[in-house]
Amino acid sequence: MRNLNQFTLTDAVKDSFKTEEGTRLKFLLETFIDHLHDYTRATNLTHEEWMGVLNFLYDCGKISTPERHEFILLSDVLGFSALVDMINTRGGATEGSNLGPFYLDNAPEKDMGADLAPGRDGVIILAKGVVRDILGKPLAGAIIDTWQADATGTYPIQEQERGQDKYDLRGKFTTNERGEYYYTTVLPKPYTVPYDGPVGDLLRAGNRHAWRAAHLHFIIRAQGYKDITTEVFFENTEYIDNDAVFGVRKSLIASLKPVKKGQDIGVPLERQPDAMFEFDFVLAPE
Ligand code: BEZ
Ligand code: FE
Repeated sequence: MRNLNQFTLTDAVKDSFKTEEGTRLKFLLETFIDHLHDYTRATNLTHEEWMGVLNFLYDCGKISTPERHEFILLSDVLGFSALVDMINTRGGATEGSNLGPFYLDNAPEKDMGADLAPGRDGVIILAKGVVRDILGKPLAGAIIDTWQADATGTYPIQEQERGQDKYDLRGKFTTNERGEYYYTTVLPKPYTVPYDGPVGDLLRAGNRHAWRAAHLHFIIRAQGYKDITTEVFFENTEYIDNDAVFGVRKSLIASLKPVKKGQDIGVPLERQPDAMFEFDFVLAPE
């Protein structure tokens, strides 16, 4: 009869799964069991601590709804999401970063040069750049799908009960024949990730804040290329070095330059910007 103890148990659990040899599933499962058991042995986990972990996960499930996925937030604050983004960034392509919970896949199509923030106060910025492949060739017809918070750090989708249109501050642009994109919008402010649930308790237990550095979200798509989900941040802004979800990469920081009234910026715009940045996106082949 087999003798189960803390050293033989791990193999027994792995062997209990009759997963097909050589499959990715078998590899993922066995590696997970190895690490979970190693963690348990290394920490000498007590019954109270073990139950604490399980209750924490239970609470994450309880507070989750179709609009609020507490496990994604948990993944974000543990750097798990950032690590998956880092591992999956293709060499030479723009680095990936958080999708976040506020993406809508049917954002309105906008003409190049449009203003994403009509009637909104704040610093109006011109976002401008080129989508290229990893050899530097401009990609015409690429889709720039963008969404963002406003000048108070709020996403319109969070304020629908106050009459905000959830499609505000988002849009899809198609790059022109030179691979260029340009539009104006309002400079977003930092905001907090939701911290009224178990993940918030975890942040407080670790003396951590819930603030994200101000950013614009982007998904860039072009036929024959791997999509990129990423964010653009702004140089010398708050939380750039301690973003709550580890989304900031050096290569994703844009530098805002002031634009003078009447200054010729070489592209036709609906609204006069106060400042501008240039950021090129690079896509790798599929
Ligand atoms: C966001 O950037 O929109 C976001 C990312 C992670 C958690 C919450 C919000
Ligand atoms: Fe965001």
